[in-house]
This record gives sequence, C-alpha cells and structure tokens, in this order.
Amino acid sequence: MSSFTWIPLVLNLFILLISHPTISAAFSSKQGSSEIPSEFLKSAKTPEIFDYMVKIRRTLHENPELGFEEFETSKLIRNELDRMGIPYKHPIAVTGVVGYIGTGNPPFVAIRADMDALAMQEAVEWEHKSKVPGKMHACGHDAHVAMLLGAAKILQEHYSHLEGTVMLVFQPAEEGGGGAKKMRDEGILENVDAIFGLHVSSRYPVGVVATKEGPVMAASGFFEAKISGKGGHAAIPQQTIDPILASSNIIVSLQQLVSREADPLDSQVVTIAKFRGGHAFNVIPDSVTIGGTFRAFSKQGFIELKHRIEEVITLQAAVQRCNASVNFYGEEKPFYPVTSNDKELHQHFLKIARSMIGDEKIQELQPSMGSEDFSFFAESIPGYFYYVGMVNETEGQMETGHSPYFRVNEDALPYGAALHASLAATYLLEGRSSVEAQNRSFHDEL
Ligand SMILES: *[C@@H]1O[C@H](CO)[C@@H](O)[C@H](O)[C@H]1NC(C)=O
Ligand SMILES: *[C@@H]1O[C@H](CO)[C@@H](O)[C@H](O)[C@H]1NC(C)=O
Ligand SMILES: *[C@@H]1O[C@H](CO)[C@@H](O)[C@H](O)[C@H]1NC(C)=O
Ligand SMILES: [Zn+2]
Ligand SMILES: [Zn+2]
Repeated sequence: MSSFTWIPLVLNLFILLISHPTISAAFSSKQGSSEIPSEFLKSAKTPEIFDYMVKIRRTLHENPELGFEEFETSKLIRNELDRMGIPYKHPIAVTGVVGYIGTGNPPFVAIRADMDALAMQEAVEWEHKSKVPGKMHACGHDAHVAMLLGAAKILQEHYSHLEGTVMLVFQPAEEGGGGAKKMRDEGILENVDAIFGLHVSSRYPVGVVATKEGPVMAASGFFEAKISGKGGHAAIPQQTIDPILASSNIIVSLQQLVSREADPLDSQVVTIAKFRGGHAFNVIPDSVTIGGTFRAFSKQGFIELKHRIEEVITLQAAVQRCNASVNFYGEEKPFYPVTSNDKELHQHFLKIARSMIGDEKIQELQPSMGSEDFSFFAESIPGYFYYVGMVNETEGQMETGHSPYFRVNEDALPYGAALHASLAATYLLEGRSSVEAQNRSFHDEL
C-alpha cells in the first residue's frame, strides 16, 4: 500500500489494541477467529450497544411504515450511519440503504435487514405502542433494523481489521412487495460473495438459533380472479348465470390440485383467502371476486401449480357458463422463490454459532410454507437465512408474527447483532487466509 495511509493505520491499530486487546488478537491470527463470535456477543450485550438497539427498535416500533414507504425509517438509518461515519448508497429501491464498512474493496459480504411494517392495528398495550393507527411492526422488522445497526456499531469499531468490505443491506417491502428483488435488480449484489439474513422467532428460546441447510421456506405467489356471470332475481335463477355457485365449484376444484396432482413429497398449499360477491338476500350478483395464495417447495412444483390454478379457474367457470380472468400480480407482488440455504455457508454458520452460543443452542429448523423475499438475494448469490429465538419461558408464550398481539423480546437483540457481525467479519477473515492471502504477499514482494 502507499505510504500516506500508513500512519493513520498504525494509530488506528494502536487505539484498537488498547481498547480491545482480545478482539485485536483474534483478528490478527487465523486461529483466533474463533474468539470473535463470543467477543462480539459480549460487546453486543454491553449497555452501549444493547441500550442503543433497544432505543432504535422502540422508535421504529412507534413509527411503523409500510413497504416502499419507509421514508422516516430510512432517514433514521442514514442518520445513524452518518453518526458512525459509515458511507452508504441511497436511495436504492425507493427507500433502501446500503452501508459499507471496511476497505471499500473486494471481497464483499452482505448482511441484510428488512424495514417494513404491516397494515394492521396493534393490540398490545405498552409504552411504545404504534402511534400510527392501522400500522404495526408485527413481524419484528423493527428489531431486524436495530440488530443490523448494532452489528454496524460493532463492525465499525473494528473496521481497520476487516479484510474486505461488509455491506449493510437495509431493504424495503419484504411483506409482499418484493423489495429484495428490486434491490437485486438495481445491482447491489454485484461482486458480493455471500449474503446473510435472519428473522426473529417466537418459536425458539432466547439465545437459541434455528437453521438448516437447503430449502427452508416455500416459493409463494398471489392470485385474484373475477368470475363474471349475469345477475338477476334470486327467485328466477333460470334468467341468470350464477357466479356464486360457479365460484364455489372453482374453490372446491382448486382444493383438489394439492390432494390429487401434487407430489405428496413436494409440499404445496392453495388457499382461497378472499371471496367477495353479492350484497342482498334476493339478488344474484353479476360477478364474484376470489383471491388467495399458493405455495410450493420446489420451483417446478410452483410453476405447475400456477399453470393449473389458471386453468382450473377458467375451465371450471366455463362449466357454469361464466367467464373468468385471473391476475397473478406479477409486478406489484412478484412471486417469491424458494428460500434455500447454501451448503458452505451452513458450515460457516455452524462454526460461528458454536463458538458464540454452543452446539446445544443450535436447533434444526423445521421448514415452513411461509416465504421470505430474502430468496431473491439467495437465488442470485450464495445466501443464508436463520432464526433467532425470542421466547423467555418465565414470561409465557409469545404470539407469532402478524398477530396484533405480537411482541419482540429485546433480550434477543444482542444475538442477532453479534451473529450478523461475526458471520460477516469471519467470512472475510477466512477468505483472506486462503488463495487471496497468498496473492497479497505475492504483490507485497513486487
Ligand atoms: C363471456 O365472454 C364472451 C366472449 O367475450 C361473451 O360473449 C359472453 O357474454 C361472456 N359471458 C358472461 C357470462 O359474461
Ligand atoms: C427471562 O426473563 C426474566 C425476567 O422476566 C429474566 O430475569 C431472565 O434473565 C430472562 N431470561 C433470559 C434467558 O433472557
Ligand atoms: C490470485 O491470483 C491469481 C493470479 O493472478 C488469480 O488468477 C486469482 O483469481 C487470484 N485469486 C484471488 C482469490 O484473488
Ligand atoms: Zn412478516
Ligand atoms: Zn418478517
């Protein structure tokens, strides 16, 4: 390297050696990287970082914003990054922010948080209840942002030790809007080697993580269909074409796709969650609108299911002389791919989690038919998604995400922050210790 960076670098190292002897030692030796996870967890539990995360999380919880409307959330994040001296790019995908910690050069590794809330009314009565009627952070994305900012604080303290660059990905619109797809399509993953994401969970105890190699969440899509008939007097059905009966038969036929056509070993779901038609006791309406979601654990199963949903709706409507049009909302609500965990990143995760919390705190994740738009990232580059437990048994059962009674256990924040920071920092450190390190010493000799 050129000489002008030399003095500040020495000063930095000197300051860091004074304030964090253990971590500095850990960074400076390859074997020592096993110290980093537990040191980072300690760091994340200090009042300086823990209280900081709690404050961020509560501020966001009081001010929830829906997908692609996270303007204040995004501003808060940028203010925090400014304060920490972390450069960033903005806007990406309307409200998205990408921060950079480290050398600013490759290798790049990304850690991601989603920022959006849900369109629902909070029913939990507490000091930091949502101040916005009809909007609530009921999925824990407020905690995700707080954890990623906590990780940023930890990493920034050690930025001069990072052998590459950690990208902080603050993503809009996870809840159906496909914000990840939009960020990916704007090119944020160029030159990025791997990406890690997490979700808080009300199924596992605090201090426990749950994960698995391979597919962990389903591919998912939405559809809506309008079934048109001919309205008229309910007592003179022969003069009408009844869309209510046609729609009812469509729904029954759709339920047979999973039971009769899908491979029983490839889990699938078709749910009609919406049925709108008619408003009087004695009037057959002109049309009915139905809508729902479909899920599958394999790409092939998903494609076939989509094709058959369209076919069944239009053909079954025709049986009863109705017309039907099906809308899959490709633009507004893109299909989410299967979320699949990379095999090598799984090994990396296990190593980090073991040295941070111990083997007994790592549980095998039960895959679910839920979906996550993290899958758009993991579809393009190696990705890894895991769950951070929040349950404290002495405080009773917790409601699951999307419940108006959903609560976050803030004691889980340090685990998320420390895992984010450790996964990224050691990923870079270990990448360096292979071919690239040799390349570097080769350049030094030149
Ligand atoms: C269905 O569509 C055809 C062709 O556009 C039209 O002739 C017919 O009247 C429609 N039927 C109903 C019930 O809307
Ligand atoms: C669970 O909550 C109690 C108080 O409600 C607290 O003392 C304890 O430390 C918590 N346990 C964990 C694992 O955080
Ligand atoms: C190391 O250097 C070789 C030769 O220049 C190059 O082909 C290779 O991609 C480099 N590897 C890394 C990890 O930078
Ligand atoms: Zn959610
Ligand atoms: Zn979520």
